[in-house]
Amino acid sequence: MSYANIIYEVEGFVATIAFNRPKALNAMNSDTMKELHDAIGRVRNDESVKAAIITGAGEKAFVAGADIVQMQAMAPVDALSFMEFAHETLRNLETLSKPVIAAVNGYALGGGCEIAMACDVRFAAEKARFGQPEVLLGIIPGWGGTQRLARLVGLGRAKELIYGCEQIDARRALEIGLVNRIYPGDQLMAETRKFAAQLAERPPFAVKMAKQAMTFGYDLSLESANRLEVECCAQCFSTADQKEGMKAFLEKRKAIFTGR
Ligand code: CAA
Repeated sequence: MSYANIIYEVEGFVATIAFNRPKALNAMNSDTMKELHDAIGRVRNDESVKAAIITGAGEKAFVAGADIVQMQAMAPVDALSFMEFAHETLRNLETLSKPVIAAVNGYALGGGCEIAMACDVRFAAEKARFGQPEVLLGIIPGWGGTQRLARLVGLGRAKELIYGCEQIDARRALEIGLVNRIYPGDQLMAETRKFAAQLAERPPFAVKMAKQAMTFGYDLSLESANRLEVECCAQCFSTADQKEGMKAFLEKRKAIFTGR
């Protein structure tokens, strides 16, 4: 699939997906969501890619939300398909077997905040702004915001943001746990790439199992989730990287992982 609204690049072992409709502040219409869906599949299927970054092109925005121009004329049945496909896409992102970092370079509002929250980790530029302003449009978050925001920052803070519709800056987002790190804007991509490259050096099966245990275990009972963890951890013992990691530790040298 060729892309009109995103840029897909692979450098080393890291893929970068950049939303690229700067004139509309990277607002997500259904064509862009289809492209994101396809790009996530490429990350999954390309064995040379070990980690991914999602960001926004242009100076101002990560993603300023779902495309209001497209949504305003939607009948309920169209809105249902629009939201369902976004949910499928963001679940694919969330459950991708490789780590994904959101590099939030500017506005991450509505659907933009929801995309960032489906990533594993969020790094933000100091000038980034976050919010779920959907209620001001007469709707509610429709791409997972009512659920993922509460899981990240707690139910009370999620309600404050979703009912209040106020934007928060990167520092407040860091304070409440919505983002992991903040950087000056001109350092954001370099720092994100550095972290992604570190993750790409880790034994991929161990990273995959850690992600699986956390992503699928989060909503289970503690007992079931711990059982899942045990299974995932035990499976790591089938890899050459586990043998090498432990051998290297005991021989006091750096491990050479092969991804096997
Ligand atoms: N959809 C469509 N177009 C959008 C857009 C969006 N979500 N956000 C911005 N744009 C467009 C603007 O209409 C404008 O287009 P024109 O130049 O053709 O007029 C262009 O991008 C630049 O935007 P502004 O002139 O508004 O820029 P600003 O700097 O004054 O303000 C902003 C920036 C605060 C982000 C403001 O654009 C804004 O509030 N955007 C909408 C944010 C929003 O409500 N997002 C939630 C959408 S609903 C949603 O996402 C539902 C869901 O859960 C899935």
